[in-house]
Amino acid sequence: MVASKLSNVDFSKYFQPPSLKDARRRRHEAVHIINDFSIPDDIHEIGKGKKYLIETYGCQMNEHDTEVMAGILEEMGYEETSEPEQAAILLINTCAIRENAENKVFGHIGKYKALKREKPDMVLGICGCMAQEESVVNKILEKYPWVDLIFGTHNIHRLPQLLREAFFGKEMVVEVWSKEGDIVENLPQSRHGHFQAWVNIMYGCDKFCTYCIVPYTRGKERSRRPEEIIAEVRDLARQGYKEVTLLGQNVNAYGKDLKDLENYGLGNLMDEMRKIGIPRIRFTTSHPKDFDDHLINVLGKGGNLCEHIHLPVQSGNSEILKIMGRGYTRERYLDLFHKIKAAVPNASFTTDIIVGFPNETDEQFEDTLSLVRECRFDGAFTFIYSPRAGTPAARMKDNVPMEVKKERLQRLNDLIDQFSAESNAKYQDKIVEVLVEGESRKNSNVLSGHTRTNKVVNFSGPKSLVGQLVSVKITEAKQWSLDGDWQREPEVAGR
Ligand code: SAH
Ligand code: SF4
Ligand code: F3S
Repeated sequence: MVASKLSNVDFSKYFQPPSLKDARRRRHEAVHIINDFSIPDDIHEIGKGKKYLIETYGCQMNEHDTEVMAGILEEMGYEETSEPEQAAILLINTCAIRENAENKVFGHIGKYKALKREKPDMVLGICGCMAQEESVVNKILEKYPWVDLIFGTHNIHRLPQLLREAFFGKEMVVEVWSKEGDIVENLPQSRHGHFQAWVNIMYGCDKFCTYCIVPYTRGKERSRRPEEIIAEVRDLARQGYKEVTLLGQNVNAYGKDLKDLENYGLGNLMDEMRKIGIPRIRFTTSHPKDFDDHLINVLGKGGNLCEHIHLPVQSGNSEILKIMGRGYTRERYLDLFHKIKAAVPNASFTTDIIVGFPNETDEQFEDTLSLVRECRFDGAFTFIYSPRAGTPAARMKDNVPMEVKKERLQRLNDLIDQFSAESNAKYQDKIVEVLVEGESRKNSNVLSGHTRTNKVVNFSGPKSLVGQLVSVKITEAKQWSLDGDWQREPEVAGR
């Protein structure tokens, strides 16, 4: 644990670099639910008339953490700005998943050196997953001394106290807890959207895929109580929200740590969600290993449970999957895939794939291509393997040249594009339900939203439709999106 503002201290003794052995042990530690968030009286209104900006990188988990930090800052009186020059507080919420994600953040910290010189009173803070890495913290201490504050993913509820230290002290404030297992329930949140919301159902990850940094940056798996989640989603429904996405790094492990609830899992929770008067419920991210029959049955009941399954496969070769520590084979993934498809016939499927894992052979990569051909995914996030210090895979010798990895990525992307276009083509002339999210990014005369299957739809219509569920007839299926005509009549088909 760290709570210090001494720049001449040896920080290495406070941090625990990723250690598989230590991290695995943590599973047996009890989870505490705490409601101790509060803003000290002396700084309660310190932000009045001042502005904040939070730059966010990484996954939905980070996006949602940003909403919590925004909620805390707004309770302190700060208002949001999109201009760094206007900000009294500038936080960078970082992602550590791949090296290029980290490099982008270091670039931005460098860029803010000049701004800090102009505005010495501005507080520049680094938080999120990179802050959980010892090497990153040391690098910031050494090379980016204009940073005022570093805090980890388990320290968000301490933001007011940390800001107080940063305001009134002269040294860099660093607070990173390396293996926390608590859940703080009473945090404020300032949600970005008015009709789509993220709701955490669990935190952390105990899967320890050998390439992945997340179990170390996010701590152990811990589930929120179902009654807390249900109350939050009901409240969002009352406020008029149309779509809720339940969040966790490995949502299929939901409930495993709730020892007093026997066999309560994601299937049970989703069944509860079906009873709530909110039109769309999504969840992410699924892990194939823990995706059970009960969940498949519940998803098959449809209703407000959306027909989109993000099911990361990572590789189509069983040997690589084994070295990745994924806990399933190619065959088991395919069985699961077909089982879900049979239960939810209209479902769209997306996935994540890593190419160029250490020593991946051409044949093993071909297995990934053939799996993609069998599953005909609607879309995929594809990545070149990036070694993460401290993870088991980073210690493996790798004989695959970068050139080869890049070629594989290109071949894979070409194949994915082909199936993505093919799956979009099936929507031609169909009428689909679209949640209208706003103006299209490319053309402000066009409205844009998603189908239940998570396809982007663009169409012309009055701005008053934003936030509503409407029917759209697809007139042109493109590679990445669908164009259509708004159907005035309220009936909705295509479910
Ligand atoms: N918890 C989710 C997602 C985690 S990160 C899951 O397990 O599916 C999102 C994706 O980033 C992963 O699915 C994986 O494809 C990719 N990823 C994670 N670590 C990586 C690494 N070291 N190099 C390249 N891609 C990585
Ligand atoms: Fe990383 Fe694996 Fe956990 Fe996903 S399940 S966050 S890839 S360790
Ligand atoms: Fe990145 Fe952390 Fe999410 S490493 S992907 S922001 S959990």
